[in-house]
Amino acid sequence: MKHWYPTEEDIEEASASLRQGGLIGWPTETVYGLAGNALDAGAVAAIFAAKGRPTFDPLIVHAPDMEAAFALTSEVPPEARRLAESFWPGPLTLVMPRRADLPELLSAGLPTVALRVPAHSVARKVLVSAGIPLAAPSANRFGRISPTCAEHVLEEMQGQDRVAGVLDAGPCTLGVESTVVGFPGRGRVVVYRTGGLPVEVLREVAPGIEVVDVRRAEDDPGLAVRGEQSPGMLARHYAPRTPLRLLEPGRMPPPAPGRTRGWLCFSAVPEGKGPVEVLSTEGDPEVAATRLFACLRRLDAAEVDEIIAWRVPNHGLGRAINDRLSRAAT
Ligand code: TXA
Ligand code: MG
Repeated sequence: MKHWYPTEEDIEEASASLRQGGLIGWPTETVYGLAGNALDAGAVAAIFAAKGRPTFDPLIVHAPDMEAAFALTSEVPPEARRLAESFWPGPLTLVMPRRADLPELLSAGLPTVALRVPAHSVARKVLVSAGIPLAAPSANRFGRISPTCAEHVLEEMQGQDRVAGVLDAGPCTLGVESTVVGFPGRGRVVVYRTGGLPVEVLREVAPGIEVVDVRRAEDDPGLAVRGEQSPGMLARHYAPRTPLRLLEPGRMPPPAPGRTRGWLCFSAVPEGKGPVEVLSTEGDPEVAATRLFACLRRLDAAEVDEIIAWRVPNHGLGRAINDRLSRAAT
């Protein structure tokens, strides 16, 4: 795997390998993606294979601007246009009716496609220089912790010979994935995945926005009829190899003599033996979000028997952090 940096030369080389059907580790403001040509069914299949991702879980397609993104749809709901105009480029993914000629696997057979215009300058340079829309899920093996720096991508994708290289633009500034929003009809605007764009901010433009509880999504006829549930919202996800126990703020776990523990704290450090990671000493959810996945990876590497984590205040980016922690929990 090549290790590229955001020089003109390296960006051109990475883009050329995308045009030839190769895959690359690609920086965005949220997490690193595993990118390939979204219009090439072979490249799309290679992404699923490299991640070990089940084929019922559709990918996000990235475009350099709104017009290029909308060109991949068969219809743009008015609510989608309003959100795109307000929040693109940025950490927002919109699920819209797909153009019929896109590779089937991209959408995992659904009638929709998920689209995003990323804000990261290097991400955008590659999109422009490659001249193709890029399908890019997070560049981790399926179910594992999302990568927020190039080293994580190298760790996750080593030995995958379809991955030509990783373009290293340093750590991601946001650290959690984009917020995924769909439009299942009758003017509904539904958050399928909380993420880097807080619901409170979306609500300013879409006052009626709903947050779907994935555990109940299957019982929502409005969503099911249109095949609109977000299949990637599997309960267990973002998981370290070490069992993780998630606690309410202020709680302590029962003592477990003989078991080693690592601690993932929001701001305050509890008493206890073992490695400690503090998400934000200032209690700032934005700082916590950028650090979340790297802290989880370090605790996972510490070879403890168990990771103890606490929920964070459930607003702003805290919502996305709690979502990822509850999916990581056993
Ligand atoms: O921030 C991000 O979104 C990153 C960067 C690389 O852009 N990408 C990312 O992709 O997180 P991935 O594949 O890990 O997550 C894609 C999510 C999944 O939850 C998937 O189910 C949902 O988007 N999704 C994709 N297409 C969909 C569709 N047609 N309908 C409903 N949900 C969809
Ligand atoms: Mg992912």
